[in-house]
Amino acid sequence: MSSTARVSAAVWREREAELLSPAYHRYTDLVVDHAEGTHLYTVDGRDVLDFGCGIGVTNLGHLNPEVTRAVHAQVDKLWHTSVTTYNPKMIEAAEVLVSVMPEGLNRVFFNNSGAEAVEGAIKLARAATGRTDLIAFAGAFHGRTYGALSLTASKARYRAAAGPLLAGVHHARYPYCYRYCSHGPGERCSIAEGDELRLMLATSAPPQNVAAIVVEPVLGEGGYVVPPPSFLPMLRNLCDEHGMLLIADEVQSGFGRTGRTFAFEHFGVTPDIVTLAKGLGNGMPIGATVARDEVMRAWSPGDHGTTYGGNAVACAAAIAVIETLSRDGLCARAARLGAAVMDRMRALQRDVAELGDVRVLGLMIGLEFTRDGRPAADLVARITADALHRGVLLLTCGTDDNVIRLIPPLTVTEDELAAGVDALEASIRAQTQR
Ligand SMILES: Cc1ncc(COP(=O)(O)O)c(C=O)c1O
Repeated sequence: MSSTARVSAAVWREREAELLSPAYHRYTDLVVDHAEGTHLYTVDGRDVLDFGCGIGVTNLGHLNPEVTRAVHAQVDKLWHTSVTTYNPKMIEAAEVLVSVMPEGLNRVFFNNSGAEAVEGAIKLARAATGRTDLIAFAGAFHGRTYGALSLTASKARYRAAAGPLLAGVHHARYPYCYRYCSHGPGERCSIAEGDELRLMLATSAPPQNVAAIVVEPVLGEGGYVVPPPSFLPMLRNLCDEHGMLLIADEVQSGFGRTGRTFAFEHFGVTPDIVTLAKGLGNGMPIGATVARDEVMRAWSPGDHGTTYGGNAVACAAAIAVIETLSRDGLCARAARLGAAVMDRMRALQRDVAELGDVRVLGLMIGLEFTRDGRPAADLVARITADALHRGVLLLTCGTDDNVIRLIPPLTVTEDELAAGVDALEASIRAQTQR
């Protein structure tokens, strides 16, 4: 590592401090020059294993050859016409996307981000039901724009200086059993069984006013929480009973991350609306709101709109992502690799008292650290800093920042995965046995 290069990373950080909004929160001080597969290469010559995927986005690895080829081909042909013309790539992308959705979810509105996909879902649910209210969950993250932020409840800080938010949003508890339930493992969870939601509908949220329940099938930013198997089916039944729509936010959990194309597939339910982004473009900005035909038909031309949504280059990337995911069997691969990591982490739990909970669905892996029953954010910060020192980038999550999330690309090689998990294990041992 040359000293000139080291200065250059510092200079980039200084220039950012002068020029960019202080709102950007950076997880690390890495300054990345280029990336390939699982590797980030910094301006000062470091080669770092990327187990964060740009917050769950580059699921097929950086510069995935198929996606890169598709983008290159489209860049030389057509970028953008918006709604001034028909756009064949957008129609093809919708066709490919619908082909991996459950039967009946067959209408797509493309946009540019997760938050936009959620905004679309809120407006669509209101239009389709003629109702105003929404139910979301404590711990949920749905984005930072006003509608999405009104649903987001993963950290109070996100909402603190932003109000007033959208009216008519009710928050229920998510079945985050490790932290908030008193029942034993495998015992009945009253939250997952819907006792609290039924109370809410009977007391403070009249069901005839509720357009939709919005849920992350696996809680993302809120702590990588896998709910008990009865939770999603309970929500589906409750929605059917009261004519409410079920909106599954798959922005973080979608496109193979959990070992299925979509996380809701693990729970045997079909939502009415699904929101997508992140992994859909593998880094090209694209999102989508997907709905059943009769729901999407609540919109007439002009009821919703976007300038960039569905631009041809982003759609070319999305098509390549979906085709590569199925051609290379990456969902099954994520399930297999995730199970191996789970075995290692569960074994580590026997030695490390602070590793309180290991939550795994495919390669969506959360490691929750506590000390004396309380969240141990300081320990997690030390572990991730130590791991970065050893060459692995890991992200945290959870309301209390005490969960490490392991989200390597689904294309991570077995050697890279083993090296990354070795480094993480060494960091956990080093920081807990001080
Ligand atoms: C589940 C979920 N929904 C929505 C969003 C918002 O997506 P974006 O940052 O693309 O607006 C995120 C982002 O992390 C997310 O995890």
